[in-house]
Amino acid sequence: MLTELQNERLCRVGPKAPMGRMLREYWFPVMLSEELTPACDPKRLTILGEKLVAFRDSAGRVGIIAEGCPHRGASMAIAKVENNGLRCLFHGWVLDVQGKLLEVPTEPEDSPRKNIVPPTGYLVREVAGVIWLFMGKKAPPPFPDFAWTRMSPDHVIKMKAITECNYVQNIEGVIDSVHTNFLHSDALHGTAAKEGESGKIEHGAENRIMRPSVDKSPRLQLQNTAYGFRYAAIRKPIIDPDKNQYIRTTLWIAPSTITFSAAKDEGFMQIMTPIDDENTIFWHFRYSYAAPFTELEHKAYPKWVGLSRDEENLDENFRSRRNPGNNWLQDRAAMRRNETFSGIKGVNIEDFAVAESMGPIVDRSVQYLGPTDLAVAQMRRLMLQSLDRFEAGEKPLGLAEPVDHSRLRAEEKVISRSTPWQTVGAFAGEPTSGDKSAVIEHQE
Ligand code: FES
Ligand SMILES: [Fe+2]
Repeated sequence: MLTELQNERLCRVGPKAPMGRMLREYWFPVMLSEELTPACDPKRLTILGEKLVAFRDSAGRVGIIAEGCPHRGASMAIAKVENNGLRCLFHGWVLDVQGKLLEVPTEPEDSPRKNIVPPTGYLVREVAGVIWLFMGKKAPPPFPDFAWTRMSPDHVIKMKAITECNYVQNIEGVIDSVHTNFLHSDALHGTAAKEGESGKIEHGAENRIMRPSVDKSPRLQLQNTAYGFRYAAIRKPIIDPDKNQYIRTTLWIAPSTITFSAAKDEGFMQIMTPIDDENTIFWHFRYSYAAPFTELEHKAYPKWVGLSRDEENLDENFRSRRNPGNNWLQDRAAMRRNETFSGIKGVNIEDFAVAESMGPIVDRSVQYLGPTDLAVAQMRRLMLQSLDRFEAGEKPLGLAEPVDHSRLRAEEKVISRSTPWQTVGAFAGEPTSGDKSAVIEHQE
């Protein structure tokens, strides 16, 4: 349980909020490259509570700058796109992709204005078809080059949606293994799967995820790492439960990235980018280390999770057509007929529904956490600890030591009960030194 003050510290993301200041030390994905086509109109976006404008110049470079013109604050979202920047409609000042003043037509040629006005832009990188933003004042940390950012496009299914709640609510959903047994029970298919089949997603008349267990009360164990933590949800498998254990690992990479176990040779990563205190971009990446995804998978998967942009799922602004305003179109009649547990279509829309149903910022001072909330409690604790240290002049969690992001991987497996879960998904560089190797169990 958190105090109201701790909850405020955890959730508020604006430029003056303590957490908002710390979050500005990290890179965040903010747009798909395809949202900024060559010579397109500038686009408004809000990130970490700041109003911004994104555009592409004639050389194809992306700029993300403050929405207000540095002269007298007219919106650069209605500015004119020119060869090498944006020309403000009000008095014609031109800003380049870094938000640097290129032209001041209201003043003589030799005016010092260009050298006086500080740039209004932030650092941008375009990697793997995604536009990333760093909003810090100092030098950025190394770019988080997750495995999927190095893969060719046919190996990655990229999706994003806007949720109507604080970013922490979305994170807490994804690092909560046990909710899958309930919220997503329509999709889970308990199976005495052969080795290598668990976690597999089948797209057919009925989409389903194969799972070699029907155990609904996993034991959680967690290990702190240099990037955050990894934890295992340990369940009884269907076959040989006395000899074996079914392990699903999840990695939380501070501040808001999660990778959870997938089918063999696949990965899932979800990243939360705070728009403001009460809205979040929910990124979902499914990627394949071995073969590229088939055309069917590229089409069927976003449709099934509820993140395709079409008549059925997301509108052109990445907002779900099933949202708090229409009770996520929950189908009570189908629930009564026992055809569905949640009555809500789309695995991710189920996630959004529970997170959004809590209200924009849930009150964590009136919650009662149990043993399956171990990862949720630890994430809150580590974020607040990191914030205390950051305010004392230290680097935030995940930025103090080098982390090889490309190797971070969650896995699932049925292993013998005598084998430590830490062997599942571990790689040679996994930090296990000092107190970082300590296993934490429920401690509420
Ligand atoms: S407000 Fe933009 S040029 Fe004056
Ligand atoms: Fe979920």
